[in-house]
Amino acid sequence: MSGPLRLGVNIDHVATVRNARGAGYPDPVRAALLSVEAGADGITAHLREDRRHITDADIARLSAELPVPLNLEMAATKEMLAIALRHRPHAVCIVPERREEVTTEGGLDAARLFDTLAPMVKELGAAGCRVSLFIEPDARQIDAAIRLGAPVVEFHTGRYAHGDADGNELRRLADAAALAAKNGIEPHAGHGLTFDNVTPIAAIPQIRELNIGHFLVGEAIFTGLGESVRQMRVLMDQAR
Ligand code: PXP
Repeated sequence: MSGPLRLGVNIDHVATVRNARGAGYPDPVRAALLSVEAGADGITAHLREDRRHITDADIARLSAELPVPLNLEMAATKEMLAIALRHRPHAVCIVPERREEVTTEGGLDAARLFDTLAPMVKELGAAGCRVSLFIEPDARQIDAAIRLGAPVVEFHTGRYAHGDADGNELRRLADAAALAAKNGIEPHAGHGLTFDNVTPIAAIPQIRELNIGHFLVGEAIFTGLGESVRQMRVLMDQAR
């Protein structure tokens, strides 16, 4: 039996469109509120080191104005840790970050970064933030998450979404979700999910949350953001 599956809407790319012109619109906070009205259970935003989309001011406004949990995605740096501790969002998802990448291209190497992550996970947890590690669906990374005491992992679905011809990646995700859950870690998933590929991921019973952004914001051009979020919700609910 599958439990409920939350939808976190990532609004980064509303800010991308805004920043393309340096104008005050479209407003990512307005998009967040509209997503909530349409069925989002939470809002996700990635404050990148180069501030290419979401800005510090967006995080401050989201923290103040959202009626649902905010999931702040950030790199494992001192600057980001200080920002997270200032705002104390409901959740903090630690992601790998390289300035030259177009998007978050792979999972965090939690095993290799153990010594950097350990004090951060502890400090964020003590501040009341639910810490999540954005990792590949891999036993070595799950083992590091267990040793770090992270309550949540988010599995990177990029490899699944971008051409997984033989179905192995879906199996890897399902096995990883089962392993995490067995060890008391709540599994989430995200990256590259669309109407066409979300169903098998939403059907993995241990997964409790999907974070979806780029596709929903793109689809909003054609149907409106409310409608794109609503349709995603329906597909996710049907899969459970
Ligand atoms: N989850 C995490 C941790 C991410 O870094 C991203 C991309 O910023 C997403 C989910 C959402 O991915 P997408 O925008 O491809 O739906």
